[in-house]
Amino acid sequence: MRFSIEEVCADQLDQQFEKLDFRDEFIIPKVNGKEAIYFCGNSLGLQPKKSRQYFNETFDKWGDQAVEGHFTEPDPWMNYHKQFTKTSAHLIGALPEEVVIMNTLTVNLHLLLVSFYRPTKKRFKILMEGGAFPSDQYAIESQVKFHAYRGEGKLFDPDEAIIEIFPEAGEETLKTEAIIEYINKHQDELALVMLGGVNYYTGQFYNLNEITQAAHHVGALAGFDLAHTAGNIPLQLHNWQVDFAVWCTYKYINSGPGGPAGAFIHNKYANDSTLPRFAGWWGHNEQERFKMQKGFKPMYGAEGWQVSNAPVFSMVNLKASLEIFEKAGIENLRKKSILLTEYLAYLIEQINTEKNRKIIKIITPDNPEERGCQLSLVIAGYGKQLFNRISENGVICDWREPDVIRVAPVPLYNTFADVFKFYTILKSCL
Ligand SMILES: Cc1ncc(COP(=O)(O)O)c(C=O)c1O
Repeated sequence: MRFSIEEVCADQLDQQFEKLDFRDEFIIPKVNGKEAIYFCGNSLGLQPKKSRQYFNETFDKWGDQAVEGHFTEPDPWMNYHKQFTKTSAHLIGALPEEVVIMNTLTVNLHLLLVSFYRPTKKRFKILMEGGAFPSDQYAIESQVKFHAYRGEGKLFDPDEAIIEIFPEAGEETLKTEAIIEYINKHQDELALVMLGGVNYYTGQFYNLNEITQAAHHVGALAGFDLAHTAGNIPLQLHNWQVDFAVWCTYKYINSGPGGPAGAFIHNKYANDSTLPRFAGWWGHNEQERFKMQKGFKPMYGAEGWQVSNAPVFSMVNLKASLEIFEKAGIENLRKKSILLTEYLAYLIEQINTEKNRKIIKIITPDNPEERGCQLSLVIAGYGKQLFNRISENGVICDWREPDVIRVAPVPLYNTFADVFKFYTILKSCL
């Protein structure tokens, strides 16, 4: 039997990264009775095998102990969320007091916009990426309208307040310089720069450090939606002085559908009780929480933004998943991820070479520093058809309107052999 050099390469790389192969710790879904090529961890991560155990233990604890479960070891429910702080903080480069796991992403975005979008008559604009994930668009638009009622005699109009920045003609992604140029152009009116860390559609990873510096330079704040970044690319939010960020944990962090979200609030705000916020009892000073007294006193740091007690059942999977991240280390995973995605890009270009034309266009930046796991593929004219065909042949990835197939090999459970198999299926379906 003859092997292609590409196949041998996959085998060698899998051997090289053997220690980072945590595939056995996850349940791999099947298509037509065979293990799928699962390249959809950018949408929903896989189920860690330990999840079921943690879920059952928690379920039994509820049955056996009922209300006492709030206080009994292991993992008293009162403080269930706190066990995720250290590892989550490490994933995004934050201090523990800057991080809390609570609610869901869009809810957290609203809570933090209440505190950090503080428009004045003059400075009320928000800079976003054009075509941001719809939930962000709706959240921002509704926040602008909400603040209109509190404006200093001025009603803010979303059409005027929201500045959307699009790639230049003929380009698919945004240049950092162009973003900074926009920031400078609107310097006196800009209240906030709010971008996705990795754009959900193109897979572009923005230079969060430079963008934050530019925002601060003109007197604006910088906040990021890290849905596609957390657990994908290591970050340094604290050092970069990012003001706030939110992320979900059901994509790269494998917490299951609708799993809990994260919030980052830089510790320069940790003790700032003057910030407006939508409060609840779980954000109140925990020493006094059960005194049931009037007068909200926020906890120090990000925990002071909590509203409700922890939804324990939606958090059990996070425990299973973050344990694997701790073993693997996000920096190690990133090294493997860069190669996995590079290998995928290389094989896709091979198809173009073999077909003698650019049949598949990768719109994600070419530079590994500007992307995470995901590549976004455009196949002019029949992308959707091709997507359907590869899906029938055992690939699970996703289609995003108007014309992108998103594929994301995830270093925790995908292998170089998966990438090679994907390439053979893609080639045969073209
Ligand atoms: C970039 C981005 N922002 C926001 C959301 C919405 O998240 P949620 O429904 O958890 O609020 C998603 C969901 O996929 C997303 O990809």
